Amino acid sequence: MGLSNTIPALLLSILIFGGLGYAQLTSDFYSTTCPNVTVIARGLIEQASRSDVRLPAKVMRLHFHDCFVNGCDGSVLLDAAPADGVEGEKGVLQNANSLDGFEVIDDIKTALENVCPGIVSCADILAIAAEISVSLAGGPSWDVLLGRRDGRTANSADAAASLPLAGDSLDILTSKFSVHDLDTTDLVALSGAHTFGRVQCVVITNRLYNFSGNNGQSDPSIEPEFLQTLRRQCPQGGSGTTRVNLDSTSPDSFDNDYFRNLQNNRGVMESDQILFSSTGAPTVSLVNRFAENQSEFFRDFARGMIKMGNVRTLTGTEGEIRRDCRRIN
Ligand code: HEM
Ligand SMILES: *[C@@H]1O[C@H](CO)[C@@H](O)[C@H](O)[C@H]1NC(C)=O
Ligand SMILES: *[C@@H]1O[C@H](CO)[C@@H](O)[C@H](O)[C@H]1NC(C)=O
Ligand SMILES: *[C@@H]1O[C@H](CO)[C@@H](O)[C@H](O)[C@H]1NC(C)=O
Repeated sequence: MGLSNTIPALLLSILIFGGLGYAQLTSDFYSTTCPNVTVIARGLIEQASRSDVRLPAKVMRLHFHDCFVNGCDGSVLLDAAPADGVEGEKGVLQNANSLDGFEVIDDIKTALENVCPGIVSCADILAIAAEISVSLAGGPSWDVLLGRRDGRTANSADAAASLPLAGDSLDILTSKFSVHDLDTTDLVALSGAHTFGRVQCVVITNRLYNFSGNNGQSDPSIEPEFLQTLRRQCPQGGSGTTRVNLDSTSPDSFDNDYFRNLQNNRGVMESDQILFSSTGAPTVSLVNRFAENQSEFFRDFARGMIKMGNVRTLTGTEGEIRRDCRRIN
């Protein structure tokens, strides 16, 4: 092969693989360097879950908020540190007083640094912890792909712009997923993560009392009895930080009830119900499919998580392996 062929082939591989630092994630990445990584993480997550039933939901959300900003690079875990030039992502609207579960990630990191120092990235800990949390709550298991490295920056502007909001339209939700190559099936399947965990009243107040800026009006897509339930749980003028279940029928188990609730117009956030109530949208038949067949939901959820876990990862010699997940080395 002459030079004239080699150069285009090289350019093509750079385009496809996103740079010369590219290396594929693999499920056995730590099999020789830190074989007990999953066992250690699982033990600590199980222990923390015994005193906090919501912990698996908190932990799996961290991986999502990591991957959607700067790729899956552990940036969400960094505390703001202006002296290091790290602005941090924890303060943006979607994360502040909301993201939680950082302590168990710290505990996992500490335990791993004791047995295999400098080996396991914080970004990989989030991916492993998300799978453990979902399966612990009764959801699917999957082979977690590993080998991510940790970033040395965080991006609060990107966090504010890229993380979805409960009031986003279906078009905006779709585009916030598609920029990460996550399609409509991924959007609907991954939204099924709202089968566990809580939402604060402040997020749904407008939906209950002031829909589209019309004072006194509620979102007409809410089933009337459920509207009364939500209004009792989140009274007008009450505390915005009160939390209500995202899945009203089985709040802490990972199952397909979320989709059945949407079929009954009992979705809690606007961004949930919109998946079913947007007549003619491709999301409607996906909600129906996942509501009818939990195995299909579990399969597509696991696929979506693996795709999401591949978003703009740092590999090879890029980035670093943080010693402390909250600060760069
Ligand atoms: C589709 C767009 C999405 C929007 C607009 C959205 C928004 C939200 C909001 C506003 C909350 C409540 C936060 C609070 O009140 O403190 C929440 C909770 C949660 N989200 Fe999402 N989310 C989306 C997709 C996802 C995805 C893809 C995942 C994971 C794969 C996920 C996992 C969770 C979990 C587990 C909780 C509960 C956390 C807890 O109890 O602390 N969400 N989400
Ligand atoms: C892994 O964990 C098991 C059980 O806790 C322990 O017996 C074994 O020595 C550990 N292996 C390594 C390489 O740390
Ligand atoms: C209702 O929503 C509008 C527009 O979002 C807002 O300007 C207004 O302050 C809200 N009213 C109340 C009572 O919250
Ligand atoms: C549910 O989906 C799975 C996976 O696609 C399929 O094998 C199974 O037959 C389906 N079950 C029903 C009752 O349709």
